[in-house]
Amino acid sequence: MGLLEIRGLKKQFDGLVVLDGIDIVVEDGEIQGVIGPNGAGKSTLFNIVSGIYRADSGSIRFRDREIVNRPVYRVARMGVGRTFQVARAFDEMTVLENMLVPSVVMHISRAEAVRRADELLELATLDRVRENPAIEISGGQRKLLEFVRMMMTDPDLILLDEPFNGINPALIEVLMRLVRRLNERGKTFLLISHEIPHVSELCNTVTVLAAGTNIARGTPAEIRENPAVLDAYLGH
Ligand SMILES: Nc1ncnc2c1ncn2[C@@H]1O[C@H](COP(=O)(O)OP(=O)(O)OP(=O)(O)O)[C@@H](O)[C@H]1O
Ligand SMILES: [Mg+2]
Repeated sequence: MGLLEIRGLKKQFDGLVVLDGIDIVVEDGEIQGVIGPNGAGKSTLFNIVSGIYRADSGSIRFRDREIVNRPVYRVARMGVGRTFQVARAFDEMTVLENMLVPSVVMHISRAEAVRRADELLELATLDRVRENPAIEISGGQRKLLEFVRMMMTDPDLILLDEPFNGINPALIEVLMRLVRRLNERGKTFLLISHEIPHVSELCNTVTVLAAGTNIARGTPAEIRENPAVLDAYLGH
């Protein structure tokens, strides 16, 4: 049994078929990649798993419990965290204040929340901008902030949507190290990215979507040699 099992997931927007029966199994403790051309339906998949969009049909089981079409807060509370393709932050608040937002609904003291925030900020090398308003940090730091803020609730499954987009090489190294560290502590990742080298470095299994369907699944090496994958990218 996988930690997350997606079966036959379908979604249309105004008659446009965006997901046409997607199957993905994520094993507990793995870092799985999701790649595919623009418009393949990758972000839509995350939006459905996290409860933002409703699926038309199909099943999503997390820890063997059906979560399809559950409200966002229920999915989050069960232990599924996610980041967005365009990172979200509370601009007027400081970096630390951003980190403390999720703790409002957690049953921990402020001191414990600050301790946890500081540990995550240090891992993300954001401790140096702890007191800065979020609007003043770089785009890459903003992506890291969204990631570690989401980790405040200690989710078991983490969905990252294009985490490497628009972040400089030094911060990409920080991000890769962060994902590995959290994975060593037992966290499971599903990672959307166009950056095939980074995906190859982090992931043992890669799922390829194109035009709302599964076209391949395998190791990064298998995916690179798969003619259907080359066709999907070149044909696009
Ligand atoms: N809320 C929406 N309403 C209507 N159409 C949508 C909506 N969200 C996504 N789509 C459409 O669904 C398709 C898949 O979009 P999606 O954002 O999931 O692709 P993606 O694989 O994440 O692409 P990219 O690599 O560019 O991020 C696109 O044709 C997009 O225009
Ligand atoms: Mg997307």
